[in-house]
Amino acid sequence: MAPTLPQLLGIDTPIVLGPFGGLSSIELTAAVSAMGGLGSYGLYGYSAERIRDTAAQLRAATDRPFALNLWLPAGDEVTPADVDLGPAIAAMAPLYEAAGARLPDAPERFLPDVDAQLEAVLDARPAALSVVFGVPGPDLVAAARGRGIRIIGTATSVAEAVALADAGVDAVVATGAEAGGHRVSFLRRPEDSLVGTFALVPQVADAVDVPVIAAGGIADRRGVAAALALGAAGVQVGTAFLRTRESAATDAHRAAIASAADNDTVLTRALSGRLARGIPNRAMRDLETSGIVLPFPAQNWLTGIFRAEAAKRGDGELASLWAGQAAGLARADAAAEVFAELAAGLPTSTWTGNEA
Ligand SMILES: Cc1cc2nc3c(=O)[nH]c(=O)nc-3n(C[C@H](O)[C@H](O)[C@H](O)COP(=O)(O)O)c2cc1C
Repeated sequence: MAPTLPQLLGIDTPIVLGPFGGLSSIELTAAVSAMGGLGSYGLYGYSAERIRDTAAQLRAATDRPFALNLWLPAGDEVTPADVDLGPAIAAMAPLYEAAGARLPDAPERFLPDVDAQLEAVLDARPAALSVVFGVPGPDLVAAARGRGIRIIGTATSVAEAVALADAGVDAVVATGAEAGGHRVSFLRRPEDSLVGTFALVPQVADAVDVPVIAAGGIADRRGVAAALALGAAGVQVGTAFLRTRESAATDAHRAAIASAADNDTVLTRALSGRLARGIPNRAMRDLETSGIVLPFPAQNWLTGIFRAEAAKRGDGELASLWAGQAAGLARADAAAEVFAELAAGLPTSTWTGNEA
């Protein structure tokens, strides 16, 4: 029989804080781990050195298990040599100017070396390494296993879940199309893998023997109870934690989530070159109208500079406002209160009320 998620991960409660590439905070990750769940921290774009530093900060903030999250190379990533940034930079000049950002020169590389990132994560020995956009290779699975690190893969379809289980991951996140942030499909185009959480979770649970973690649209006790009824061993929650005190989301991002209706989020490639769900704003609309969408990660790098500057200045019209369809359920509370609300959807025996 498959182990329970708490057994697998050394946690008390099968509630996982979703990692937020570019938006994770030590405080929120540590708070969810301290509550007995699994706090996750998104390391997208982090150098090996920054990963080591982040892991040290997490260790200082909590002695409970946590997960580190990386994007695996999907094989379609372009390098600066592959793209002509000039016309795109010119087309985005008004957005740069409006955000108060300086137009960039072409970089040496768009993303840090993934092998160096992985080595830093393995050295840090988190309880779990969660990955998106692919299947971890046998060397990575063996290296993690050798260090006692659990690997969690992420699937947007049954076929992806089976591929991950076959590769030896310890658990699979089944993420429905409701979820905030990027669609992490790797077998088919994300546009062709938009399965909703309600359809995805039971079919994945039927297809794999490892524990399934349901993600996408789960924001309160009702969502948690439903996910478990569908065959999930636990849940991964993102958007519902973005308005908490411990979150790194800007006030503008929080306000956009607070006022988002169920059908206010959209899927777009405009901001990063890959399909992702968020709340529309001027940046998204202007980029879609201009039609300038470079392949990933060039687009992400290029728009990321003015988005970061806009976020610093509190400008929600030019920053990214990633959020899922359940944004309207997200509460402006302490993380502990959101966690307790989610945990109330579990069978009472698994909720220990641990608030260490
Ligand atoms: C701002 C933001 C950034 C995200 N970045 C990542 C990431 O880097 N890696 C990852 O595995 N998932 C990422 N996700 C997905 C979440 O971890 C989580 O699976 C998802 O938010 C669950 O759906 P929900 O938003 O409906 O709760 C991100 C989500 C958001 C909202």
